[in-house]
Formats: sequence, structure tokens, C-alpha cells
Amino acid sequence: VSLQTCMTFFLLWNTIAEILVSLFHTLWELNRTRVFQAGEGRLQHYSMLLDETQERLIIGGKDILYSLNLERITAPHKEIHWPSSEEQVGDCLMQGREKPECANYIKLVQHYNSTHLLACGTGAFSPVCAYIRVGRGTEVNLLLLESDHIESGRGRCPFHPNSPSASTMYRGELFVGLYTDYWENDAALYRLGNRSFIRTEVGDRQQLNEPKFVGSAVIPDNDDPADDKVYYFFTERVANIEGGNKAVYTRVARVCANDQGGQRMLVNRWSSFLKTRLICSVAGPNGIDTHFDELKDVFVLRKKDEKNPEIFGLFSTTSAVFKGYAVCMYNMEDIRAAFNGPFAYRERTDHHWKVYDGRVPYPRPGSCASKINGGQFSSSKEYPDEVLRFVRSHPFMFQAVQPVHRRPILLDTEGGRKLTQLAVDRVEAEDGHYNVLFIGTDNSVVLKMITIYNKEADTVEEVLLEELQVFKVPVPITEILISTKRHQLYVGSELGVTQIRVHQCGLYGSACADCCLARDPYCAWDGFTCSRYYPAGLYTKRRFRRQDVRHGNAVQQCNGLQLSEKLVYGVENNSTLLECRPRSLQASVTWYIQQGVDMEEVKGDDRVIQTPHGLLLLKIAKGDAGVYVCQSTEHGFVQTVVRVTLEVLDEGKVEGLLHKGEEDEGDSPHRPPPCPFPSLPSAPSSSKLWYKDFMQLIGYSNFQQVAQYCEKVWCVSDRKRKKLKGMAPKWRYTPGAEQRARARAPRHTQGQ
Ligand SMILES: *[C@@H]1O[C@H](CO)[C@@H](O)[C@H](O)[C@H]1NC(C)=O
Ligand SMILES: *[C@@H]1O[C@H](CO)[C@@H](O)[C@H](O)[C@H]1NC(C)=O
Ligand SMILES: *[C@@H]1O[C@H](CO)[C@@H](O)[C@H](O)[C@H]1NC(C)=O
Ligand SMILES: *[C@@H]1O[C@H](CO)[C@@H](O)[C@H](O)[C@H]1NC(C)=O
Ligand SMILES: *[C@@H]1O[C@H](CO)[C@@H](O)[C@H](O)[C@H]1NC(C)=O
Repeated sequence: VSLQTCMTFFLLWNTIAEILVSLFHTLWELNRTRVFQAGEGRLQHYSMLLDETQERLIIGGKDILYSLNLERITAPHKEIHWPSSEEQVGDCLMQGREKPECANYIKLVQHYNSTHLLACGTGAFSPVCAYIRVGRGTEVNLLLLESDHIESGRGRCPFHPNSPSASTMYRGELFVGLYTDYWENDAALYRLGNRSFIRTEVGDRQQLNEPKFVGSAVIPDNDDPADDKVYYFFTERVANIEGGNKAVYTRVARVCANDQGGQRMLVNRWSSFLKTRLICSVAGPNGIDTHFDELKDVFVLRKKDEKNPEIFGLFSTTSAVFKGYAVCMYNMEDIRAAFNGPFAYRERTDHHWKVYDGRVPYPRPGSCASKINGGQFSSSKEYPDEVLRFVRSHPFMFQAVQPVHRRPILLDTEGGRKLTQLAVDRVEAEDGHYNVLFIGTDNSVVLKMITIYNKEADTVEEVLLEELQVFKVPVPITEILISTKRHQLYVGSELGVTQIRVHQCGLYGSACADCCLARDPYCAWDGFTCSRYYPAGLYTKRRFRRQDVRHGNAVQQCNGLQLSEKLVYGVENNSTLLECRPRSLQASVTWYIQQGVDMEEVKGDDRVIQTPHGLLLLKIAKGDAGVYVCQSTEHGFVQTVVRVTLEVLDEGKVEGLLHKGEEDEGDSPHRPPPCPFPSLPSAPSSSKLWYKDFMQLIGYSNFQQVAQYCEKVWCVSDRKRKKLKGMAPKWRYTPGAEQRARARAPRHTQGQ
């Protein structure tokens, strides 16, 4: 009997694997996901704009602009066709370009004013911009290209569809980093205002050297808007001292939003351009750091305090040998400190950078014309030549910006997949704020993770909450936008755009422990089910919430709460376990059985065994039916932990249940388990409930422990143990199954 019972366990494992796989497919069935499929080739290169006020998602594609409903991106949408003229396409082909390149790839969509968007496209290697009337208020369905006001897009949109660019709109002016010419020689940071423009110096390799623009953002310095700064994030080439192999570094550069350039010199050129290096590295064992130098994506996480967003960078190594990815987080405080620190200086290009220790002119180069400078200068045009000359020759700060904790918050060095995109949501949980990272990969998966910093040990724990496959076929994810208001992600690839809810608490099961162990800061157990967590004060009624993201301590949070009443079916002549695990391991447990009005203590024998997990009944008899009460005693404190009603079924009835399961077999993910062991839930047989019950039984930890558990409880002999070990790996090491299983199972990995 004992071996048979253990074997039943192993059979159950197989079923669990199947259930996990099927859960993976339910993303779609649960209505958590909607996919907008664009026309063939429309999203080869594209831009996306989230418009939360008018509840739409604007996508600029190839010769087309879509306006999708934010709530349901699959709802009927609006679109504008905006192809290049035949003449432009003809010219483009004449220049020897390929047909697919000779189209209008809309690379930039920005809010322009309250009624219009600005959209710019490559225009078959002849960039163009247009204003798109979107209306406001009752005109929400409007989408109209102002076709009689098409402007040149030079300096706003690159020529080449593949060319990297980054833009920000601020007070009606466009700040953009891009290559401005056909041959991609002239990289520049531009500002295009109503009548003016300002840019980096042409051909100045000190300012920009083969940059790849990744992102930009306007961040205020203080309450004076005249001090607002625009930050650009990009990579560029740096020649090493020997002048040989050029390395790639990540930079953060900044300019004053109100920069007017100089009057006699630096006319229409930035008078405030400064830059420094962004570091993301891990210390190596022999003092040699591994640097992640190539910025892939950047996310500016805005907070209530607009002046101090958190900056997240997704980096990869540039090494040909070692491939890895890291996410680093930066404080504005540290970024500002670098810009307010010493300037860098070197005598010749083949010398090392040193601290510039000469006199720094006033007003400090790189500062804005504002009250901070005593209100002495109303515009940078009034700055002394000395200041302009200094900033022109010293654009580089000596201090690099180190990440928070001086290390990545997340590392991915396993190889195999590439990480491409990053978005971050700030979530308030019972035990503090968490930054939930959504990381796009090159194989359609979005990883949902949190990282927890342990101050005492100075370690970072990475918790993978979910792996969301957002497209049915593997495709690189090229954009992730997040709507905090709607709890939705909008994930783009060349195939289309997927909308997905950032949480699906119900997926973690309805038990308190499941919910708690998931450690998802969006979710908490509300006494009935795992549901969206709302901080106190928002829905003050819902006070009774169990959540512990930091430690995932389900025992502390949930025991004594869960399973206070339970119905368990046992099969005659078969065995079952009546679970009872008290709050504390130190507690002693006593079982009582209530039959009719009598309540008496259960005395163990060779058929009824008390285990650390509960009461094990072997070879159940009809007379065992009744209400079992588990009481724990600790420090004189007696408490009822569980009341289990045991009903005993005869085998005929069980056969019936089994066959019922076979009837609706096929591909249905809700196939009932093959046998009713260890306990058949009272609810209509749902695989998830059952999975949960089983997980509770084996204590949520490594499945391997079940083997030990079996040994302990049933005293499996050595010979039999070998047999069991041979069976165990059957599903656990099927690579596909394991990967898919991870879609559901929370995994906890230790970072460094
Ligand atoms: C999903 O949505 C469809 C249509 O909107 C609805 O019929 C179906 O019941 C929903 N399914 C779930 C699991 O909510
Ligand atoms: C917005 O800009 C467009 C294009 O320049 C212009 O036609 C329109 O009048 C502007 N709307 C407002 C409200 O200023
Ligand atoms: C540019 O024009 C817009 C309106 O068209 C105005 O709101 C904005 O202040 C102007 N910007 C500058 C720098 O003059
Ligand atoms: C249970 O086992 C006993 C003998 O061990 C047998 O007499 C009885 O018929 C069995 N009951 C069922 C329902 O199989
Ligand atoms: C217990 O139940 C399972 C499933 O119904 C069955 O395969 C097994 O033979 C039963 N064991 C005993 C001892 O009756």
C-alpha cells in the first residue's frame, strides 16, 4: 500500500505539470490579453504614443497612423494613410535604395497642443512632418491629417527607417536626438521651437561621437521652470588611450530647456550642453568589474515629486565573449551631483582624463538663465564669452553616475535570450513601495519581476513574478508602454501590439498561502480570494488583507486563517490526509473527532497516523466519516486550526467520477485529476483548486521533498526508493514543459 501511495504522488506530479502548461494558455482565455494585428509590414519601424486623457493609443507605422482604443485595442479603430508621393518614392529608388525603405515610416508622434499631434516620417528618405487634428472633448473620435500644412521633417525625423532617435515635447518645442542627414554623418541634439532652433555643434566629436539615441526626458531641477533641464540617454564611441579599439559607453547628457545659445559665439548652439558616463557594473572576484556599457532602453519612473524620478536603464555587455544583461537604477540626486561636480579635462586626446582644477567662470557653465544665477541673466545670450568658451571646451564631467546600491538591481547572464525593452510600475503594497519591472525579450515574452534589496546583507533578491508570452509566435519586443491609470501594458512588436493587464491575481489560486507566496505586490488575499491590493485609505472597508511581498511568509500571514472549514472525500479502503499545519512548528497538535454530538480525541494506531502535515488515514472505512477538528496548543494557548468534514465514498462512486473526467478530455485544460487522492475538493472538480490543495500538502517547496516526505511517512525501503527516483525526473526535466511551467509558477532566484 505504501509504495502504491507514493506512486500515486508521482502520477500526480505529471498531472501538475500538465496543469501548469495549460495555465500558460489561459492568458488569452482569461481576457487578460488583446492583440491588435497591424497590416503586413506596417510595424517594421514604428512609434507609439499613449494618450491617457483621450484614452487612445496612437501608433505611427509604415505609411499609416492608427488610433486605437486604450480600453480595448481590438475595438474598431481609426487610421490615416500617409504614404510618400510617387515622386518621392521614385527619387528614393533612383538613389539606389531598396523598395521597402522608400516609404514613409512614421518615427515620431508627439502631443503638440490641445488639439493637434505632431507626426513625422522618413518620407522615402525625405523626412516630412504634419499636424494631426485629434480634437478634444466631444471630438474624441477625430483623426485628421492637416494635409495642406506638410512641413519638412529635417532635424526632427531621421532619413533612414532604422536610424535611432529619441524625442520629447516640452512647451510646444521639440527636443530630439537624431541623425539629421541622408548619409547619417551628422548626429545632433536639436531643439526646434516656433521660430528658432538650437543644436549641438556640427562635427564636434567631443560632444557626440557616433551616438545611438535611446531616450530623453524633461526633468525639473527646482520650482523655477527656467531651470528645467532636458536629459538625453545614449551610447557613443570612445577611443581608448592607444587610439585603437573604440569602446562603447553609455552617456547621460543634459541641456537647459530655455537655452537660447550665445550672442556672438555659439549662435544657435547649446550653451549648456554637458554629459557624463552612466555606470552599470558588477564587481568581479579579482577587482576587475564587469561593465554593462550598452544602453538598450531607459525608463523614467515619474513620482509625485516631479523633480526626482527614478531612472532605470537596461544594459548589455559589449564583450564578444561574455553576453549578459543588467538593469541599473539611478537617483536624480546622483545624476545632479555628477553635473555639479568637477569638470573633466585632458591635455591631448591620447592623455587620461583628469579633474579640471583651474578657475571655473561665473555663471557656472551648464547652468540655466534663471533666478538661481541671481536673475542677473535673462537669457544665455547674455552669458560672458568666457562661460560659453568654457562649456564648449569642457562638455565632459569628471564624475560618472553610479547606480543605486552601486550595482545592478537585476542581472541576466544565463544567455540564450536577449532583453530588449523595459517599463516600470511603482506599486504600493502593505509593506512598502515596489518597482515592478516589465522586461521585454526577443522571444515574445515579457518578464514581470520585482527586486528586493537587503540592507544588512547588501544583496539584491530578484523575484520573477510572471513570464507573460504576449505574442503567439516568437518575435522581438520593440516597445513597452504602461498605463498606470488603467493597469495595462501595451507591448509592441513588428507583428502588432498586445494589451495586457499588469496583474491577474486570481491566477495565483484562491488560497491565502498561494496568494502570499506569489509575492506579487499587486495582489493580496482578502479573506476569500487573491485579488487586487488597494492601499488602506483608498477602500477603507477592505482592511482585512494578507500580503507579505518582502518575505512571502505565508505561514505568518495565513495560518490559522486558511482552511478553517474543509470538506474532504476519502475512498473506502484507500487513504487520505486531513491537513493541519499550525502557525508555529513549536505548537503541539491534538485531533478530535466529532460524530453526532460526541467529540473525542483521536488516538493514533497503525491505520490512523499523525504526521507533521496532518492526520493520515490509511484504508478508510465507512465508520471513519465525521468531522475532524485539529487543535494546536502553544504556550497554553489552545486554538482550533482546522475543521475537516470527511465523507467516505465507495469505489463505485469514484469510478463514476473518473469516467466523467474522461468524457470531456480532449484538449480541455480543466480535466479532473486521474484519481481523487489526496483529497477531492468539494467544489466542482477544477484542476486549479486541486493543484492548490496538492501544493499545500507538499509544503510549496521543492518537489524533491515529497520523496523525503513519502519516505518518512511510509518508510519506503531502499530498493523501492531507487525505483521512485527513476520516476521522478519524468516531467521535471522536459525542457519545454519546465519553461512553460514557469509561466505560472513563481520562481525565486537569488541575485547578487
Ligand atoms: C472574455 O470576454 C468574452 C467577450 O467579451 C466573454 O464572452 C467571456 O466570458 C470572457 N471570459 C472571461 C473568462 O471573462
Ligand atoms: C495647434 O497647432 C495647430 C498646428 O500648428 C494649429 O493649427 C492649431 O490652431 C493649434 N491649436 C491650438 C488650440 O492652439
Ligand atoms: C511656441 O508656441 C506655442 C503655441 O503655439 C506656445 O504655447 C509656446 O509658449 C511657444 N514657445 C516658445 C518658446 O515661444
Ligand atoms: C475493502 O476491503 C475489504 C477487505 O480488506 C473487502 O472485504 C471490502 O469489500 C473492500 N471494500 C470495497 C468497497 O472494496
Ligand atoms: C486508491 O484509489 C486509487 C484511485 O482510485 C486506486 O488506483 C488504488 O488502487 C486505490 N488503492 C487502494 C488500496 O484501494
